[in-house]
Amino acid sequence: MNEMRKPDLIRTVRADFVPQEDNISADVAALEKQNLWPRAWQVACREEEILQVGNYVTYDILDQSIIVMRSQAGTIKAFHNVCLHRGRQLTSGCGSVTKLHCGFHGWQWDLSGDLLRVQDRDDWAGCADMADADLHLSEVNVATWGGFVFINMAADAEPFEQFIAPVKRALDPMKFDEMRFGWYKTMIINTNWKTALESFMESYHVAMIHPQYLPLVDEANKSFAEGQHGKHIYLLERPMGAPSRRTGKPVPEDLREGIAGVLDIFKEWVGDAEGKGQVTVRSANAAQRVLSEIPAGKTAMEVTMGAIGFMMEAAAKEGVQWPILTMEQAMDAGVDWNVFPNLVLVFAFDGCLVFRSRPNGGNPESCIFDMWSILRLAPHEVPKLEREFYADWKQHIDKIPKLLVQDLRNMEGVQRGLHSLGLKGLRTNPVQEVQISHFHEVLHEYLYQK
Ligand SMILES: [Fe+2]
Repeated sequence: MNEMRKPDLIRTVRADFVPQEDNISADVAALEKQNLWPRAWQVACREEEILQVGNYVTYDILDQSIIVMRSQAGTIKAFHNVCLHRGRQLTSGCGSVTKLHCGFHGWQWDLSGDLLRVQDRDDWAGCADMADADLHLSEVNVATWGGFVFINMAADAEPFEQFIAPVKRALDPMKFDEMRFGWYKTMIINTNWKTALESFMESYHVAMIHPQYLPLVDEANKSFAEGQHGKHIYLLERPMGAPSRRTGKPVPEDLREGIAGVLDIFKEWVGDAEGKGQVTVRSANAAQRVLSEIPAGKTAMEVTMGAIGFMMEAAAKEGVQWPILTMEQAMDAGVDWNVFPNLVLVFAFDGCLVFRSRPNGGNPESCIFDMWSILRLAPHEVPKLEREFYADWKQHIDKIPKLLVQDLRNMEGVQRGLHSLGLKGLRTNPVQEVQISHFHEVLHEYLYQK
């Protein structure tokens, strides 16, 4: 037996070491099913998916299913998706209802989970546990932050405010709650749910997987634990629009083309067919004004602030206000967060890529992966939400932003490599991949200690 596969060592994680078994082992997947998913706060949907009373989303995680319901204006409730009679599921997918109704024998509940109807209730006369209170739908903890709706199935769930505190501190200024879906794509990927998610938890891979960025972005970065979560920040030793230090090229005196190029590259590589993804098309276009309206000879900061000014002005014309962040707030926010366990946020000026990963049944090497774009859109720009699903992402490459295809093409090879007998654990970069090692530390606390 490979020495690293002894159970005591399997649990060892350091800043520079993660056991690969975490991402291939059926035993770890079984422990996650038992100790992680029923106890962790996790994103079930966005608030914008359930704006009207009666709107619901069915959130499935392994063999558990949760109904997330706008039960009243200003109130969201979550219930286990099960009829208290014979256990049929009450909903699937998303939709709008005036009550919850079991399609098997017609039992009914109102939107707050109170019992409305038991067919032939008199038949239970004298039976125990058949009062209305006993037949309230089984509730699940629910909380919101940043427009995301979180659920937690545990009766003794960690207080949400405590769980989310580091995320709130750093990211509340970004006002993610004011963003709206630009697009919503879900796909099956042949990797462990963590392998796919981890592809978006570090920028160490940018030079190799996304070399198109190097002429315009110095991706020198540092990653940090933040409570159960993690983040990385770009150090900005070189200004935006300057080439990576890896290129050996100097910082140009005139950064106008560089800064316009950064916004252009967001549009071309991270955008959908229209160009929207990590920033709005409005911003990508507005930033091009630096080329003609900022005179030569301005400093990097002046050109950057000029571009930001043009983007904010274009937004304001459409009635969209950008939040104003201090430099300190912007550095604390960074560029990339993972919210434990299965959410990653990668953001730029007025948008964010959101990645959510879940295991796909009992196979530890298949996952259900969501890629969402949320953007600071004007009300008239908010598109009708269309949820696209790709059972085989390789058949839909034309619909997936090119940058994300670069990541997708890489990650299944990573998953296969994790099985190699020549691998004695993962040597995570203790500066740039702390998000990943810390993520496994916290995961192990759930799996082995809680
Ligand atoms: Fe990537």
